[in-house]
Amino acid sequence: MNERHEHLIALAPERTVPNMKSSPQLLKTSLAALPAAGLALALVLGGCVHETRVARGQYLATAIACADCHTPKIKGPKGPEPDQTRWMAGHAEDVQLPPPPKLAASPWNVVEADVTAWAGLWGVSYSANLTPDINPGLGIWTEDMFIQAMRTGKHMGSGRDILPPMPWNYFANLTDDDLKAIFAYLRSLPPVSNRVPDPVPPGGAPGFE
Ligand code: HEC
Repeated sequence: MNERHEHLIALAPERTVPNMKSSPQLLKTSLAALPAAGLALALVLGGCVHETRVARGQYLATAIACADCHTPKIKGPKGPEPDQTRWMAGHAEDVQLPPPPKLAASPWNVVEADVTAWAGLWGVSYSANLTPDINPGLGIWTEDMFIQAMRTGKHMGSGRDILPPMPWNYFANLTDDDLKAIFAYLRSLPPVSNRVPDPVPPGGAPGFE
């Protein structure tokens, strides 16, 4: 062993490893710091988990194309485009639609040009505001309500039947983790105050609650 190595070894215990026996105060301080360090680590990891969850939710919601039905459109050079300023805000409250054509004896359903309102044998349905706006967005929804709505097809997880063409029965197959991720993504969106009309029963007149 050459002189240089001996020097490093001689230094090592003092410089790099705190001598616990000779420093009970240091040991105490280190142990006392453990919960704080654990909390900080948990917060950092919690933040990372949340970001990952939101990113996963964005990935799923984009691939499933929730925005196709849930975002009002603007006129683009090649036809209707999603209005980025009202992303996922549901059927636009400022759109006044004429009554749908009579469909009773027809095998057809109709969809309005924004792809946010539909008429069929169930009446007229309007896509919901999925932004975290308090009312009528998802602001007051809990994660559990969202999962229940997607699993049972009941409004807010326990109310009336959710109407076509909302394909909740397909989304019911998503795992809890995926549904939680979609919910986390929706909660991360900017809230848009847009009051979507209530659905209209067959033969009824459009209106708000
Ligand atoms: C084919 C069009 C369509 C697609 C795609 C779609 N939705 Fe909907 N959604 C609707 C319509 C229409 C309603 C309103 C139904 C009603 O009033 O009962 C609705 C309602 C909802 C509601 C409110 C349910 C309730 O309890 O009243 C939620 C939440 C929702 N959609 C989430 C989503 C999510 C998340 C996605 C994508 C993963 C999605 N939707 C994709 C058409 C769609």
